[in-house]
Amino acid sequence: MQPLRLNLSRLKGKIIAIDGPSGSGKSTTARLLADRLGYFYLDTGAMYRALTLFAIEHDIPPLDGRALAAAAQRVPIEFHRDGEVNRVLLNGVDVSEKIRSVDVTQHVSEVSAHKEVREAMVARQRQLAKNGSVVAEGRDTTTVVFPEADMKIYLDASPRQRAQRRLLDMARMGISTTLEEQEADIKRRDEYDSQRQHSPLTKARDAYVVDTSTMTIEGQVDHIIQLIRSIFK
Ligand code: DC
Repeated sequence: MQPLRLNLSRLKGKIIAIDGPSGSGKSTTARLLADRLGYFYLDTGAMYRALTLFAIEHDIPPLDGRALAAAAQRVPIEFHRDGEVNRVLLNGVDVSEKIRSVDVTQHVSEVSAHKEVREAMVARQRQLAKNGSVVAEGRDTTTVVFPEADMKIYLDASPRQRAQRRLLDMARMGISTTLEEQEADIKRRDEYDSQRQHSPLTKARDAYVVDTSTMTIEGQVDHIIQLIRSIFK
């Protein structure tokens, strides 16, 4: 099937923000969408993950918001596209695989819950998007980071479906786990991310809600491209 066509000149410089819970297909959708539009893909979760890895490697306790925020302000975190992969560099070192480890995944919710950490990260995310032409993805990109985004999308899917997707991702990375473990972890993180005091995961009032439970990744991207075409005519 031919990919849907877009008038790219009309789309220059825009900010498209995508939020949703873990495993809703945000990362792959955002990356593919960015490719189709020729945009920069801003993976805000990867930034919190990189900071969490830094904290683990430098013995900063996940509850020490002040020390974490100081690190969030100064530690160099960069993105580099390498074919289909979005590489994440921490202090110039490629940590793309390490930031997906079980250890980082277990601590990232706590690290990202601190108000001062979020403030430092949001400032960096806005700086990275200052020229527009960005697809940003995370938990608060439609509400806090880019409240004026040109288009907002909230991706959702059932916990079981999201656990299934995560299981496949982990298997691809050679990590062995079970569906039950993944579903429990997803529910735990959902609860933490949506009930935390600062920038909880919520649906922005003006976001398009897309339930991806029965969609393939290509289907999700096509659906969003259709939405984009109808909005930026
Ligand atoms: O999308 P992800 O699973 O890579 O995100 C990792 C964690 O970072 C997730 O538990 C919540 C947090 N996060 C956040 O608090 N705010 C964001 N904008 C993105 C991610």
